[in-house]
Amino acid sequence: MMNFAIAGCGHIAYKHVGAIEKTEGARLVAICDPNPDRLKELRAVTSSTAYPDLGTMLARQPEIDAVCICTPSGLHAPLALEALREGKHLVLEKPVTLSLTEAEQLREAVRVSGVKATVVHPNRYRPAMQALRAALAEHRFGKLSHVNMTLRWNRSQAYYDQAAWRGTKAMDGGVLLNQAISQRRTCRRCDAKAVRL
Ligand SMILES: NC(=O)c1ccc[n+]([C@@H]2O[C@H](COP(=O)([O-])OP(=O)(O)OC[C@H]3O[C@@H](n4cnc5c(N)ncnc54)[C@H](O)[C@@H]3O)[C@@H](O)[C@H]2O)c1
Repeated sequence: MMNFAIAGCGHIAYKHVGAIEKTEGARLVAICDPNPDRLKELRAVTSSTAYPDLGTMLARQPEIDAVCICTPSGLHAPLALEALREGKHLVLEKPVTLSLTEAEQLREAVRVSGVKATVVHPNRYRPAMQALRAALAEHRFGKLSHVNMTLRWNRSQAYYDQAAWRGTKAMDGGVLLNQAISQRRTCRRCDAKAVRL
């Protein structure tokens, strides 16, 4: 049995709860969030133990094997590094980090600790994206010189008003890191700059 914990009890955390529940051999044992209302709401739909912060959670429940990082994006790197120091596997929400330096630091820490780490990019598994990927692999379009992408996702003011971190450079990173990151694929030319965990 693999014991999961979730750091950050906001919108996306509920998807992680659902995925853990559906996965044989996985169970959710702990959650943490500094916001007591968020913590209480998620606690109400799980049988996990609630904590105000990651450090306390990891100290009190050493049986945790993996941590899902579901916090504002600017906190992914520091919290992931904290979990890695305790030898925990990671499921990181996208974007992996907000800077290349942090991503490289994290990749190195994952390599050294020998744990497994993955970043959640669900849009890459949509049928249209999978069909496009297959077509590219079959060289159906010949040699591509340019790719032009349009992301038609509306984000109204109400979206940005949901939480103080949204739309900020320090915690959200902006549309290229928040929304468009879901669509971005690495190409051969970009490989030197792209970091994959
Ligand atoms: N993969 C996807 O398709 C997808 C979709 C939506 C969001 N996301 C990502 O998930 C992350 C969270 O987004 P959200 O919509 O759930 O945001 P949210 O604001 O609803 O939730 C974030 C939660 O993290 C908590 N938090 C803040 N600091 C914390 C800390 N130090 N330790 C633990 N918890 C802390 C907040 O109190 C809040 O409850 C973002 O990085 C976002 O980019 C991914």
